Amino acid sequence: MKRMPVHKYRAYPTMDLPDRSWPAKTIVSAPRWCSVDLRDGNQALIIPMSVEEKREMFFLLVEIGFKEIEVGFPSASKTEYDFMRRLIDENLIPEEVTIQVLTQAREHLIRKTFEALQGARRAIVHLYNSTSVLQRRVVFRMEKREIMDLAVKGAEIIRREAEKLPGTEITYEYSPESFTGTEPGFAVEICRAVMEVWEPTAERRVILNLPATVEMATPNVYADQIEWFCRHIGNREAVVISAHAHNDRGTAVAATELALMAGAERVEGTLFGNGERTGNVDVVTLALNMFSQGVDPHLDFHDIDRVIGVYERCTKVPVHIRHPYAGELVYTAFSGSHQDAVNKGVRAYQEERPEFWEVPYLPIDPADVGRTFESVIRINSQSGKGGVAYVMEREYGFLLPKEMHPEFGRIIQGISDATGKEVLPGMIREAFEKEYLGSTAPLGFGHCRIKEKPEKEHEEASSRAKIKASVRVAGRDREIEGKGNGPIDAFSNALREELGLSFMLLSYHEHALEQGSDSKAVAYIGIEDSARDTYFGAGVDTNIDIASFKAILSALNRSPAIRKQLEAEEQEKRYRGAVKER
Ligand code: KIV
Ligand code: ZN
Repeated sequence: MKRMPVHKYRAYPTMDLPDRSWPAKTIVSAPRWCSVDLRDGNQALIIPMSVEEKREMFFLLVEIGFKEIEVGFPSASKTEYDFMRRLIDENLIPEEVTIQVLTQAREHLIRKTFEALQGARRAIVHLYNSTSVLQRRVVFRMEKREIMDLAVKGAEIIRREAEKLPGTEITYEYSPESFTGTEPGFAVEICRAVMEVWEPTAERRVILNLPATVEMATPNVYADQIEWFCRHIGNREAVVISAHAHNDRGTAVAATELALMAGAERVEGTLFGNGERTGNVDVVTLALNMFSQGVDPHLDFHDIDRVIGVYERCTKVPVHIRHPYAGELVYTAFSGSHQDAVNKGVRAYQEERPEFWEVPYLPIDPADVGRTFESVIRINSQSGKGGVAYVMEREYGFLLPKEMHPEFGRIIQGISDATGKEVLPGMIREAFEKEYLGSTAPLGFGHCRIKEKPEKEHEEASSRAKIKASVRVAGRDREIEGKGNGPIDAFSNALREELGLSFMLLSYHEHALEQGSDSKAVAYIGIEDSARDTYFGAGVDTNIDIASFKAILSALNRSPAIRKQLEAEEQEKRYRGAVKER
């Protein structure tokens, strides 16, 4: 084994905050959400969105319920600028939505940004510059003082430009970019300096957005940094603390949740976590995490597949099949034990109707995001008999008796092993038809007449029903007669006595398949043959007695011992016929 060059790395420093209060907090309400799909997300795409795609995405974000949407970086490109203009000129921004625009702390870029904003009702102007130790040293080669001057000058220009735009209500936002790589004291210092320029009040609050531009440490460190910042910034009532986490370590959702516990009131993120490198924090997961805890996220994901559709079309980025709450397979169980538990859990939930959702392996009800139960259980070589039965019931209304599950499960497992693929519901149904309903040779049902006497005292139960039936045996019609305590018993006796078949009836189940006057019923019969092997059969008919006779014949046809007996009987008949002729 080659050793990884672990000596190149060191632990990220933790914060000395022994009286941290966030671990005892819980999230009880939704934050102010700001979608940065059209800016941070868009910047990270191989092919950034066209104006049309940005428009479609904007409408989706509005429909989901975002009230703050960072629509772009209007000074960065013509598409960005044109998109801004279209939103304003075509009056596409709903009253309750505030657009947000990003700008660097450079005069001509700020001017261009404000030019793009002309005519907007409201806007958040988002200023940022990088403040981290590393970027100051290797990218900007600037001292703290110079970095601070840059931010303050940018803030001053923004204030001046905002004052020239009296018809637009401007909210100021500042991001010390790479906040998590910045000395906490310096982050507070630079934010205070910016606040001195903007002079926020409790009525006109400033947004201080604290980005984990690159996720560098465990989520608790981000939470400590946020709590420490909140304690030291001052004039707290005039500040909205915003979290903006990227996902380099794969823990942006956790980091943001802890940041909310630590004092953040606003979250910037994207749908499905699209964004630079490993992405921004995923707002879908964050929102549905809250939802699953009984906290209203104030974002609407009741039709997650529609959200995925628009998102994939606009970004050309596929949503992973395992993506929390949204992936194609996240409500699906393949393994037998999971299928069994989901099956039982769903049934118990439907029967007991408890106040709260509680089904094993399903943290939320798939129906709440527009998923149906059809996809909950899917069948491959890992699946169990219960899953197969579940699909038959859910998709086709066949309630296979429990004793039959192992046999049919083995049949489906055989298909899965042979193909090495998932067995889709249609294939399961086809196998059921072929194996049971289509099992009509060598014994096939023709027609019958049943006579049943009403129950009388002192009369033998074994002759209560009489049957005359026509059965096809290896292509030839045979008339058989029998008596029994009911039609099934009489028919079985006729088969035994007239065709010389030896078998026992083990189980019998039936249920209606459809509602209505010409409704059909299905019967399932289990038999034991002379080799003491058990087989199941199934039959469908509008007449329940006939469905049962078909089920008996289906089970008998599937037994090698019975087929052998029939062959022997045929042979004997042919021999007798030949002797007679001579
Ligand atoms: O990740 C980041 O730091 C950013 C800033 C521009 C806010 O996107
Ligand atoms: Zn970002």
